[in-house]
Amino acid sequence: MSSGKTIGVLTSGGDCAGLNAVIRAVVARAILGYGWRVLGIHQGTQGLLRRPVDFVPLDLKCADSAMARSAGTMLGTTNRGDPFAYPMPDGSRKDRSEEIIEGCRLLGLDALIGIGGDGSMAILRRLAQQGNIPFVGVPKTIDNDVGATETSIGYDTAVMVATEAIDRLQPTAASHDRVMILEVMGRDSGHIAMAAGIAGGADVILVPEIPYDIDVVAEHINSLRRNGRNFAIVVVAEAVRDKTGEHVRLHHALGGVTYGGIGHVLGDAIAQKTGAETRVTVLGHVQRGGQPTWDDRMTASAFGVHAVDLVAQGKFDRLVAWQHRRVVDVPLTAAFELTPLTDFDDTLVHTARGLGICLGDSKTE
Ligand code: F6P
Repeated sequence: MSSGKTIGVLTSGGDCAGLNAVIRAVVARAILGYGWRVLGIHQGTQGLLRRPVDFVPLDLKCADSAMARSAGTMLGTTNRGDPFAYPMPDGSRKDRSEEIIEGCRLLGLDALIGIGGDGSMAILRRLAQQGNIPFVGVPKTIDNDVGATETSIGYDTAVMVATEAIDRLQPTAASHDRVMILEVMGRDSGHIAMAAGIAGGADVILVPEIPYDIDVVAEHINSLRRNGRNFAIVVVAEAVRDKTGEHVRLHHALGGVTYGGIGHVLGDAIAQKTGAETRVTVLGHVQRGGQPTWDDRMTASAFGVHAVDLVAQGKFDRLVAWQHRRVVDVPLTAAFELTPLTDFDDTLVHTARGLGICLGDSKTE
């Protein structure tokens, strides 16, 4: 058993369910398994920019099982402020990477474990390379598009929430003879929409990976009605393009642009084309909060323990991943090879078509 190491852990990018379960596993393995010190860095790389560095020593209280079932991230996070082009008060951009690297040195870190999505991994890897920081990555994102891993922390919970939303929409749709449109997150990938749509029994699932034709969608809804169905459920991923080929986006008052709004565009179009009454639910950040599912807790635990073991073995620049029922590790660069839904074409797209779900195109199987 080696001893005396100090490791840092941070969460970066959008939060999701299961982050605390990873932190808990890192703390437990590092302290119980190796006798190391663990420092939790606040708000991703932001904590390393502040002086004094903004961190908290994590002891075995953080390894309590209550941590595994808690939502959010106890360390805080951010999906703003790229340190290589950091937004300054005067509107300019500044490279502040050396300050972050210095933050790691000030803490005396022997290694850093970063929990993030593909964007965070790209930034953290660049920092690690520039500053010679031994780094291990743990994939999290409800979007589930990090390459080389079958699942990322937060995805299962988000799908569970979206599925429950469909379950709740179905009876009210049937009661009112309505077409219900559920807009889900996922950034550029349709994993949440496809998985929840299949699980919840949606009639139409629209994903960014498959361009849709509104006339095909309308005809599918009309054919359901001709066959006696008085309602329909449409699940749409936020990054689906509208009929002009443009993404529908939200511009936020304090700056920042996110996907959002395609549900309403679609609701109007379906109402016009079919004459059916439509209602739109935008699920939004509900998908990121709440208690993690057992699956997210389990994967988070396995990822956290494995990440610490990699540090103990001196294996860095690695990404922890889930493949074929096992936790493994792959080169960190694999995180950047995003996994669009079409890579799973053989299973989920085929399954949806097999169930008679309309994917907005004219293909059938
Ligand atoms: O990447 C995770 C995610 O939840 C996306 O699905 C979504 O588009 C985005 O983050 C929302 O970001 P924000 O929290 O900045 O609104």
